[in-house]
Amino acid sequence: MRIQSPITLLRIISYRHLLLLSFSFLMLAGCKKAPERGLVTEKAMVVSARVEASKIGSDILKKGGNAFDAMVATELALAVAYPYAGNLGGGGFMVYRKADGEIGALDYREKAPLAAHKDMYLDSLGNVIPGKSLYGATAVGVPGTVAGVFAVHERFGSLPIKELLQPVIDLARKGVVVTEKQEKRIKEYLPKILEVTGDSTLWATEFKTNDVIQYNALAETLTRIQEEGRNGFYEGETAQKLVDFLQARGGYITVEDLAKYEAKWRDPVTFSYDDLRIISMSPPSSGGVCLAQIMKMAESYDLHKYGHNSPESIQVLVEAERRAYADRSHFLGDPDFVYIPMEELVSKGYLDNRMSDFSFDKATPSESISHGSVEVVESMETTHYSIVDSEGNAISVTTTLNGAYGSKLYCDELGFFLNNEMDDFSAKPGVPNMFGLVGAEANAIAPEKRMLSSMTPTIVEKEGKLFMVVGTPGGSTIITSVLQNILNVHEYGMGMQEAVNQPRFHHQWLPDVIMMEPNSFPQETKDALIAKGYEITEERTPVIGKVDAILVLPDGKLEGGADPRGDDTAVGF
Ligand code: GLY
Repeated sequence: MRIQSPITLLRIISYRHLLLLSFSFLMLAGCKKAPERGLVTEKAMVVSARVEASKIGSDILKKGGNAFDAMVATELALAVAYPYAGNLGGGGFMVYRKADGEIGALDYREKAPLAAHKDMYLDSLGNVIPGKSLYGATAVGVPGTVAGVFAVHERFGSLPIKELLQPVIDLARKGVVVTEKQEKRIKEYLPKILEVTGDSTLWATEFKTNDVIQYNALAETLTRIQEEGRNGFYEGETAQKLVDFLQARGGYITVEDLAKYEAKWRDPVTFSYDDLRIISMSPPSSGGVCLAQIMKMAESYDLHKYGHNSPESIQVLVEAERRAYADRSHFLGDPDFVYIPMEELVSKGYLDNRMSDFSFDKATPSESISHGSVEVVESMETTHYSIVDSEGNAISVTTTLNGAYGSKLYCDELGFFLNNEMDDFSAKPGVPNMFGLVGAEANAIAPEKRMLSSMTPTIVEKEGKLFMVVGTPGGSTIITSVLQNILNVHEYGMGMQEAVNQPRFHHQWLPDVIMMEPNSFPQETKDALIAKGYEITEERTPVIGKVDAILVLPDGKLEGGADPRGDDTAVGF
């Protein structure tokens, strides 16, 4: 999200969020209240950014589909109900754990078109051309979402695609009710959407809360996909219309790019933390590696004893985050293009050594960890959903258009927004992208290369059994939000909803500052950290992450954690 003025921030913090913050404040002030429980169900659950998508996924589970069938339906339902980040024109990552313990990961990240090259966003003097990787057709990477859902269905699906897509198509035709939060989002981004797309778009209508938006063009596109499979998107009518649309606006994607796109099965990153086994996304996402680094660095410290969100706990996590994000910036990129020293990066010896200069007495300045200069801008524009089916299969998916409504380019003929994922590459070493992340050579642009991501869809096992499914949007803060939710449950004994509701903080090496959700941490905690040399900001972002998670309770029931910072909802049975 862009840096907001304080007045805009106040508007964005909803009534529900204020309630959440007051609740958290009361907890911190010692007025003990009964733990807040999320939805608890006996068998199965879907938690996503919109009730319509969670319900469609849950209905698929109810009629006998498995978690993978529900993934197909939920992913595409989010493309209808949550155009802010749900998508046909973007990409994502899925981590799964089957009931028998088999684990895996799918990378359906966008990739650079064949015509892409290292300097494509630089002018003749070698300077980054402002906006070229952010807005309009030039920012668009080859979309991966449709290939992703078909790869999942082909390998694990049990119900026919026709049945999975029908409720999604019906939703698009019937329409989706605009929520209060959605009205605010549309209003905020509308000027840019109109500037990029033109004013003869569906979005030129001034949508208000409780209006119903029908997506008939999207329903047509989904019907072609329903009838022709992935070719209904990557070949034929849809592909030709998409390429004509993008090329008329200066884009690079060709019919060959679309025809060649493949989702890739990857081995997830796995590591232990106490008696937990964490399964998370591997490169080209940095999520799993960074999460592993932070948790392994923190494991030697007694976070439970220090207390939840105490100055000591915050210090340990901030110092581990600082070191992990410095490594992210240097080492990580698409593993099909660059060598990543994975084993070393997550080895205990290496990580203990990284923390060897940490002292509780004072902050370690980021300059002494590494060098560079980064300006961070928080983003909420990705979306995450978690699913557990009645057999115990679990999937964790994070999907995105990158920016809010992606490149702001909406193809009215096909009914969806296009991503601006090309901005996740390092256009020029040392120049920050929209998240303020600076990359090195490892994340330079090359034809058909995948851009580095922070998405961290994660599954946690405890004593060999499924324990938690968790993930969130939030750009560079995704990793630290996932981290805090795992720790809230494991170290501090919280339930899933309670864990999700807690205020969050974030540090990413540079800028050397702790971001905190506004008005949610006690002044004594902040003072204690400031006294040790930490800089704190509460002005960067109204919220950090929007976590959608599921916890398996000791009696085998499922508890949902649906983030009240958004319209997120758990549905199950
Ligand atoms: N586009 C945000 C991410 O992949 O991290």
